[in-house]
Amino acid sequence: MDLATVVELYRKYANDLAAVRDAQRQLLTTFTGKVKAQLDDIEAEITYLRVRDARPRTVVEIGALHGWSATWILRALKDNGAGHLHSYDLIDSSERHVPDDLARNRTFHHGDVREKWRDLDPDYVFIDAAHSARFAHWYVKNLFPALKSGTPVSVHDVYHFRWPIPFSEGAVLMRHLAERGIASFTAAKPRRDGAYERLMDLRRDLGLAEPIRDSTDNPMVYFTLP
Ligand SMILES: C[S@@+](CC[C@H](N)C(=O)[O-])C[C@H]1O[C@@H](n2cnc3c(N)ncnc32)[C@H](O)[C@@H]1O
Repeated sequence: MDLATVVELYRKYANDLAAVRDAQRQLLTTFTGKVKAQLDDIEAEITYLRVRDARPRTVVEIGALHGWSATWILRALKDNGAGHLHSYDLIDSSERHVPDDLARNRTFHHGDVREKWRDLDPDYVFIDAAHSARFAHWYVKNLFPALKSGTPVSVHDVYHFRWPIPFSEGAVLMRHLAERGIASFTAAKPRRDGAYERLMDLRRDLGLAEPIRDSTDNPMVYFTLP
C-alpha cells in the first residue's frame, strides 16, 4: 500500500466512489444529536477503495460505534457483489443506524472483542476501537499472529500529529511495524509528507472533493501483514 496504489485506485473506481459519496452524504443527514460519524473522508474513501481492490470474503471491523465505517465497508462489499462484514463493539448503536439493505451482509458481535473474538479467518481487518497502548498490545500479540499472510489491515487514530502520541495505541503499533520492517501508508494531514495534498489535488481533478464531513486529519494507517 503506497501513494501510487491509492492514486490508481481512485482513478479506477472514481465513478463508483462518486455514487458512494452521495449515499454516505445522504446517510449522514440521519446521524443527528449524539449519533456521530468518526472516519474522515479520505480515510473512509481509501477504506472503500481497498476493500474493492482486495475483494475480501470476510471483513472484520473492531470498533463500529454508530456504523459510519461499517457503511463504507458494506458499500464496497455490495459493489463487489460479495463479502460479509463482522463488526465488534461494546455498544450496539450501529445495529440501529446501518441501513437494512446494507445490514444484510453484516453480523454484529456485541461485547469486548478480546473476549468475543473467534477466528473468522478474515481477509481484511479494520481497527478503530480503544486507543490505549494496552489494547494495541492485545492485538499485536493475539490478533496479528492469528491472521494469514497478506491480510490488509488498517488502524485509526494513529496520526493526529506528525508522530503518534507517546505510549498510545499508535506508538505501540508503529513500533511493532518498524521492528518487523512492515511498510505502512497514511494520508494523515498532520504527517506533512505530501500524501494528503496529492490526494486532495487528485480528488479535485476527479470531482470528488466536496467535503462529506468537515474533519481533515485522516489519521488512519494502512498496511499488509507479512
Ligand atoms: C472511535 S469509535 C469507532 C468509530 C467508527 N469506526 C466510525 O467510523 O464512526 C470506537 C469504538 O470502539 C469500541 N470499543 C472500544 N473498546 C472496545 C473493545 N475492547 N471491544 C469492542 N469494541 C470496543 C467503542 O465502544 C467505540 O464504539
